Amino acid sequence: MKVILYMAITANGFIAKNDDDTSWISKEEWNSYSLATQTAGGLIIGHRTYDILTKQPEFSELKDVKLAVVSEKKFKTLSPNQFVASSPKKALEFFEGYKEVIVAGGGTLNASFLAENLIDEIYLDVEPIIFGKGIPVFKGKDFELKLEFLGQKKIADNEIQLHYKVVR
Ligand SMILES: NC(=O)c1ccc[n+]([C@@H]2O[C@H](COP(=O)([O-])OP(=O)(O)OC[C@H]3O[C@@H](n4cnc5c(N)ncnc54)[C@H](OP(=O)(O)O)[C@@H]3O)[C@@H](O)[C@H]2O)c1
Repeated sequence: MKVILYMAITANGFIAKNDDDTSWISKEEWNSYSLATQTAGGLIIGHRTYDILTKQPEFSELKDVKLAVVSEKKFKTLSPNQFVASSPKKALEFFEGYKEVIVAGGGTLNASFLAENLIDEIYLDVEPIIFGKGIPVFKGKDFELKLEFLGQKKIADNEIQLHYKVVR
């Protein structure tokens, strides 16, 4: 199974403002992410992202996607196709037999997957914006991974998508 990290970032590597504001992410970016997630059929996110994403109206597009939320806590999910996993490895176990699964934030969860070297490919949609403070795309863990550049795509007039493979 291919494990794909998919994120929208500012040109300086933030994924949200400190107050969780992501209103600067374009509609084209959401559409690209939504399509990738529906194509994969599986999504893994951290607990904070789960609480935020599932309250957004656009989340209804992803209601049929099997979802694992990574958390050390035990709680009841909002839907029967959503599961709580206590670690990144346990989250992947929910997707046995899938061709691919999308890992989509936030920064804490992304860093956990990369520190355990569980990501195969990375898509970064670079929004034409910078800000001084915010939540970084990889947060709280140190690691170093070499990447191979697989390609780029313009997803809007002012926005580019970068595609990398993690070299093993
Ligand atoms: N720009 C984008 O594309 C994008 C995408 C997604 C999210 N976001 C934004 O990112 C922000 C959230 O990021 P964040 O870093 O604060 O939070 P997060 O990664 O979404 O969630 C962190 C929580 O997930 C759980 N978790 C993460 N790694 C774990 C591990 N290895 N084992 C067990 N549990 C683990 C823990 O939950 P417990 O405390 O319950 O144990 C942790 O407190 C939000 O503002 C969201 O809107 C942006």
